[in-house]
Amino acid sequence: MKRLRFGMLALGFSAGLAQAADPSVAQRVEQLLGRMTLEEKVGQLNQLSGKEFTGPATEKVRGMEAEIRSGHVGSMLNIKGVADTRRLQALALESRLKIPLLFGLDVIHGYQTVFPVPLGESASWDLEAIEKSARIAAREAASSGIHWTFAPMVDVGRDPRWGRVMEGAGEDSYLGSRIAEARVRGFQGARMGGVESVMATAKHFAGYGAAIAGRDYNAVDMSDHQLFETYLPPFKAALDAGAATFMNAFNTLNGIPATGHAGLQRDILKGAWGFKGFVVSDWGSVREMVVHGYAADLPDAAAKALNAGSDMDMESNAYSSALAAQVTAGKVPLAQVDDAVRRVLTKKFELGLFDDPYRFSDAAREQAAMSDPRHRQAARDIAGKSIVLLKNEGAVLPLRRGLRSIAVIGPLADARRDLEGGWIVKSGADKMASLVDAVREAAGPGTKVQYAPGCDVACRSGDGFAAALQAARGADAVVLALGESWDMSGEAKSRADIGLPGRQGELFAALRAIGKTPVVVINAGRPLIFEEVAEQAPAIVYAWFPGTEGARATADVLFGDVNPSAKLPMTFPRNPGQLPISYQQYETGRPVRDVKNIVYRSAYIDSPNTPRYAFGHGLSYTTFAYRDLRVSDARMRADGKITLSFTLANLGKRAGREVVQLYLRDPVASIVRPVKELKGFQLVTLGAGEARQVSFTIERETLSFFDRKLAWTAEPGAF
Ligand code: NOJ
Repeated sequence: MKRLRFGMLALGFSAGLAQAADPSVAQRVEQLLGRMTLEEKVGQLNQLSGKEFTGPATEKVRGMEAEIRSGHVGSMLNIKGVADTRRLQALALESRLKIPLLFGLDVIHGYQTVFPVPLGESASWDLEAIEKSARIAAREAASSGIHWTFAPMVDVGRDPRWGRVMEGAGEDSYLGSRIAEARVRGFQGARMGGVESVMATAKHFAGYGAAIAGRDYNAVDMSDHQLFETYLPPFKAALDAGAATFMNAFNTLNGIPATGHAGLQRDILKGAWGFKGFVVSDWGSVREMVVHGYAADLPDAAAKALNAGSDMDMESNAYSSALAAQVTAGKVPLAQVDDAVRRVLTKKFELGLFDDPYRFSDAAREQAAMSDPRHRQAARDIAGKSIVLLKNEGAVLPLRRGLRSIAVIGPLADARRDLEGGWIVKSGADKMASLVDAVREAAGPGTKVQYAPGCDVACRSGDGFAAALQAARGADAVVLALGESWDMSGEAKSRADIGLPGRQGELFAALRAIGKTPVVVINAGRPLIFEEVAEQAPAIVYAWFPGTEGARATADVLFGDVNPSAKLPMTFPRNPGQLPISYQQYETGRPVRDVKNIVYRSAYIDSPNTPRYAFGHGLSYTTFAYRDLRVSDARMRADGKITLSFTLANLGKRAGREVVQLYLRDPVASIVRPVKELKGFQLVTLGAGEARQVSFTIERETLSFFDRKLAWTAEPGAF
């Protein structure tokens, strides 16, 4: 057996909480399994997209309906709403064994109420808020018949050219792990089977975020050490938080498609980690193993995927068309198929679908969830916590109330749909405020708010610049909204150039040229590069795609009704040539010690090494001081603990919240450690002038790492 070099290792991840199945559920699953034909078993592993079902009843739709009636479909995606989920569930209940369907959907950052895109929300570092947004999304989705979301995406992303960084928690494994747990808890609630919860999916297992050159779906080639140290921990964290399912990935990992990767799925996930849920493939990823050059044809792909531990086939039609024959031909052991079916049926029992297949699709609950005003309030609150104040020279922000006039200009100033970002279930843009609306609301009737776009988001033409300059000329303050449109970040939205689109930078320069240097608001799904703005704008607010209430939240920050506290979950580069980039670099033998002397140093001759904005950066309207750092003991025994404490003081005149971050460095080890590693964080809110003691505990776990043999180890030494 040649799988991965790390074979059955994965030690450092200790067994954790392998999920235990309920014994009565296990019995019911066995009874049912015993009655199933091979064809019916394969049916449970087949997932189809139901996009067509909302259109006319074509021949294809009638064919799919027949498949559901004959028990050939175990799950559907892209079906939503009480009416449609009920109608299709009724078809499944016409099948011989009446096994209900599972309805899965990409509920990524909200269902009806749209929260900031996951990367933006991660900038809050606020696990409670993140859990709450997933909880609300689950409540809305579950009430309309959804059992299962394909979220959270826990892929670490260190290359903002990759458009899917928008869907994750950024570059850091530790922060990403904590956020993964919060999202799983939020989606799944206290226990599986609650009608206000959905099953979570940890995706994309694994390595997907490290696509070469940031190009989506591209190959991934990384050391086992990097995989264990950086890319796997958020998956393990999601699993320990109880994630019911995993999704594998489109990429190859060191030459093997993730979908056909037994080392990942059987050895690590289901072996060492003891995962009891099921693995769904990504869309068509079983079939794509043929294109990768890893499987000869669809039947071969079906066998390779199932044998490697992919339990459910999303939209490849590989299992439905070929798996039974591969079992008969002896290419796939029946026991492996049984194992996969058992996993899927277990979740259906745990969700209570055999007791009441319609229990999630409830019109009254749907109506109540969709009209609950608390959801929008939460969206505004979380968006406010996600918006990063990158720069604020001369305290130009917050804007004063009582100004005579404000010009809100730029291609995103009146945007609504763009503020929702990608991966939304249904746009509610017609019921949203744009930034112009929100500034008008916030400034009050005494302030005249003028608007001119300057150009559209692509900004190929400068024809609208003159009108924008005109609007800015007489204004007391100018806010310029720049950035990406919603469909420039996300799946298959890699960009080779992550600058501000088109001539947006020129619009900024034109304003400066008339002496109207604006406060800049940027909407985007990824870190962008905007060097001139970074150098010359006095204030920059990075608002991501902030969701349904995002414009109001942005105005809350601009006017100081919310004191910003968000911190970047990804490094912002100066130059695309620095990519991929992360604060977690390794020391070289020739580090740059003095920027004036980079000869034969690990440096660029045409760009600094340093980022434009570092991971963890974010300003506040108040100032915090860190004082009196103390360690309870200068030495720690291997089984001991020490406490690190200090005083955090709010020196300013307004209340504020600080995200205190604990970093550690292990300067000498048996394998070189990163120059800096995040090991903890706390959110501390302090009133004006208030001070408080903050402490962190350091123990063996804090100092441990994967050694050369991928064993989780702590070594003695200085830290
Ligand atoms: C492909 C994406 O990679 C995955 O994240 C998503 O869940 C599926 N499509 C289903 O829409």
